[in-house]
Amino acid sequence: MGETTKQRLIKAAARARLSAVAPYSRFKVGAALLARGGEIVTGANVESASYGLTCCAERVALFSALTSGKRNFTAVAVVARVPGGPMPCGACRQLLAEYAPHATVWVADARALRKIRGFSVRKLLPKAFVVVPRAHGNPKSEQD
Ligand code: THU
Repeated sequence: MGETTKQRLIKAAARARLSAVAPYSRFKVGAALLARGGEIVTGANVESASYGLTCCAERVALFSALTSGKRNFTAVAVVARVPGGPMPCGACRQLLAEYAPHATVWVADARALRKIRGFSVRKLLPKAFVVVPRAHGNPKSEQD
């Protein structure tokens, strides 16, 4: 992937971050997914007074992309105001492992968008649980 694509994706995540709804933590995160066709889908974190219902920027972007029919993501950029950029949480790593297994995760501090670090989804969640065994066999086999 060319340097310009990486930077373009980081910029899209930085722009999306401004739409975060984070009244509790005040920690705004933006994410931008790059689909194989070149389309970019963005998202930002949304928090709830019932804290556990909060949804991270990565998952908001992923759910948006998936439900608009997109598949085969090559990269996801994540931006927040944190040294080195935000690392995706465990829940987001799980969803990325399932729906963007070949993607690179680019992260950057919102205050230093040109300093970008990259990680493969595969390395962020090794040996991921991505297949429900029952889906491949007799549906009744797991009931006893
Ligand atoms: N958050 C994200 O959106 N993505 C991450 O990678 C880390 C955490 C959000 C969730 C919550 O709204 C806030 O950051 C503080 O945890």
